[in-house]
Amino acid sequence: MPMADPARSGSIQSDFGDVVVPSLPDVPGMIKPSEARYLYWLASTCHSGRGSIVELGSFLGKSALHLAAGLRAGGRGGTLHCFDRFRWDEEHAAKVDLGLPFGADYRAYFEANLRGVCDDVRAHACELGELEWRDGPVEILFVDAPKKLRELLVVFDVFAPHLEPDTAWLVFQDFAHAPSYAVPLSIAGLAERVELAHVVAGGSTATFRLRAPLPRGDDARRALDFRTWSPERIVAALDGLAERIDVLDVRRKLLAGVPFALWDRGARDAAVRRARALEFDDDLQRHWERMAGGKTFERYEGVFLARGFARPALPRRGGTDAVRRWVRRVFGG
Ligand SMILES: C[S@@+](CC[C@H](N)C(=O)[O-])C[C@H]1O[C@@H](n2cnc3c(N)ncnc32)[C@H](O)[C@@H]1O
Repeated sequence: MPMADPARSGSIQSDFGDVVVPSLPDVPGMIKPSEARYLYWLASTCHSGRGSIVELGSFLGKSALHLAAGLRAGGRGGTLHCFDRFRWDEEHAAKVDLGLPFGADYRAYFEANLRGVCDDVRAHACELGELEWRDGPVEILFVDAPKKLRELLVVFDVFAPHLEPDTAWLVFQDFAHAPSYAVPLSIAGLAERVELAHVVAGGSTATFRLRAPLPRGDDARRALDFRTWSPERIVAALDGLAERIDVLDVRRKLLAGVPFALWDRGARDAAVRRARALEFDDDLQRHWERMAGGKTFERYEGVFLARGFARPALPRRGGTDAVRRWVRRVFGG
C-alpha cells in the first residue's frame, strides 16, 4: 500500500507499484500502467459508497475498467457513470484501428469491454456542453475529457451541488499534461477549496480532496479565469503547484506547461525563456517529439523552436491541414 510522504501535507505520491490488480481484459487506452493501478486502488479503497463514481472521458474503457474493478473489489456498492461523446475520431484512430469511419458510434465497444467486470456501470453518450446530472452525490469525479477552462467551468457548474466537502475526490488525469495547463491553473484558482491528495508517478494524474464547495457560475469564472491573470501570476500558480510535487517526472511534466500558458497569454519572450530552462527526462523528450510532429507545434511554434525542435517536414504530396495552414502563414498565399 503506498504511503503518504510525511514531509508533505499527507499526500500520497507513488507509482502504486505494489497495488495488485486482478486480471482484466486488455483494452487499448490512453492512461499509463501506474494510472490504471492507481484508479483501481482509488475505487477499491477510497470509495465509501456514499456517492457514485463519475468518469468524464472514457474512450474504449481502460480507465473505466480499473474504476469498475475497484468498485467491485471495494464491495461498498455504488455505480460508475461514464460520459463520452462516443464518436470515433482521429485521436482514437491513432491509438487503435477498429476499422470504424470517423463519426461512428463506438459505445458498443466500450460496453463490451466492461461486460462482466462490474454490473453497475452506465455509459452516457453526450457532449460535455450538454452534461446533466440527476443521480445524487458524487464521491469520485474522474476528469479525462475537459482540458479547457470553458469545459472545466461546465463540469464544476454541473457537479458542484453534488460534491460534498471532505468526502469527494477530484481526479484530474491531465493535471501534468503541458498543453492542458488549464487544468492545473483552474486548480490553482480553487485555492484552499481543494487539497492535494494523490500524485501518480509515471503518469500525469493528480487527485484533490474537496475541502469547501466548488464555485459555480460567475463566482467560478471570477476565481478561475486565468486569462485575466498577469503572466507573473500564471507562473507563480504553476510553480507553486509544482513545489508540492515530490515525484520528479510529474513535476517536470507540470512545469513544461508554463511556456504554453505564457505563450497563449501573449508573454512570448517569457515563454521562450521558460522553454529553454525546462529540465527534460527521456520520457518528456519523447513526448515533446511526438507533439512537435503534430498540431501542437503549429500553435506553439516559438516554444518548440526554443527547445531545438525542427518544423515538421512537409509531406511529399498533398499535406495535412496543419501543414497547409503553416505554409500559408509562413509563406503567404
Ligand atoms: C483522453 S480520452 C479518455 C481516455 C480514457 N479515459 C482511457 O482510459 O483510455 C478523452 C475522451 O474524451 C472524449 N471527449 C473529448 N472531448 C469531449 C467532449 N467535448 N464531449 C464529450 N466527450 C469528449 C473523447 O471522445 C475521448 O474518448
